[in-house]
Amino acid sequence: MKVNMPKTEILDIFTPDDGKIETVGQVLRNGGTAVFPTETVYGLGANALDAAAVRKIFAAKGRPADNPLIVHIAEKESLSEITASSDERAALLADAFWPGPLTIILPKAEQIPLVVTAGLSSVAVRCPSDPIANAILRAAGVPIAAPSANHSGSPSPTAAQHCIDDMTGRVDVIVRSHPCQFGVESTVVSLLGARPVLLRPGAVTPEALRKYLPDLIISEAVEKALDESEKALSPGLKYKHYAPKAEITILRGNLPAFIEYVDTHSDETTFVLCFEDDDLPLANKVTYGKSGDPQSQAKRLFAAFRELDAKGARTVFARSPGNQGVGLAVKNRLLRAAGFREIVL
Ligand code: TXA
Ligand code: MG
Repeated sequence: MKVNMPKTEILDIFTPDDGKIETVGQVLRNGGTAVFPTETVYGLGANALDAAAVRKIFAAKGRPADNPLIVHIAEKESLSEITASSDERAALLADAFWPGPLTIILPKAEQIPLVVTAGLSSVAVRCPSDPIANAILRAAGVPIAAPSANHSGSPSPTAAQHCIDDMTGRVDVIVRSHPCQFGVESTVVSLLGARPVLLRPGAVTPEALRKYLPDLIISEAVEKALDESEKALSPGLKYKHYAPKAEITILRGNLPAFIEYVDTHSDETTFVLCFEDDDLPLANKVTYGKSGDPQSQAKRLFAAFRELDAKGARTVFARSPGNQGVGLAVKNRLLRAAGFREIVL
């Protein structure tokens, strides 16, 4: 039985001066939930200062209560209201990368309810650059907690239709707007320890971060599966995210080696996930971006996972992206979707 499930209003908004932005701001300010685009993926937002509103996010997504949310702010100056102490490194990062696809983890301010941080004393903060997101945050006038607007366990939504498919009947408002600029979730950096740690790669690359954080450590979890004791340190890593229904295996090697492997290991039900410019005369094929162009791969990857699901793919062989620049984020999401199954050809 569904109890108190909202009737979802879908609002078409394509410019930040649209009058309907005020409606979305009001819904959020008054304790409702709204799905809106950001430059990374679509987010499912609620007032971060209102514990009851934030609980609606967990219910709508089917998200475990011990996985903390990111708090979104309209301007970088608001960082000090969300976090407990000032940190020189955070100020440097905010000046360099905000507004933009970077999330910073710091000790939390008293006013942030524990439901947002899943009981942790730290909080993740981000100031998005998408003009619609920014206008909605301004209209709301409060910090907005927002995870990706997918149902827990399905790929993050990078187009409005993905949110309509996952969230209709579960949130108050869905803003139907443009596809997301980057297509992978924000880069997450923890500043809790003496040395900064990259927890999740994104469009802000390790190379770019190291200009400001020369001693940045990349969490081992970015490129390898963690054992149970290691997982306990990073709440978001416990869960199998970005998971299409198909069993994906990444094949690392050049195109001829890929073709040879697929030829000898597949039947008519097997799919390949490859690049647009790969010369592969196969019917069961879904593409994600161009080879050697990680930005285009990032933009397409999650939509490609949804296409594989829609086609009923059960076994998938995927071409491997590189792991430099934004490629590290693409590789990380693909590895997680594949349950870290990778074959070096
Ligand atoms: O690009 C993005 O970041 C998108 C858009 C909507 O802003 N949001 C997003 O949220 O990806 P979500 O909830 O899907 O991912 C947030 C990640 C999770 O892996 C979570 O565990 C981690 O950030 N996280 C949040 N707060 C944390 C904290 N205090 N300590 C460690 N990890 C944290
Ligand atoms: Mg997510």
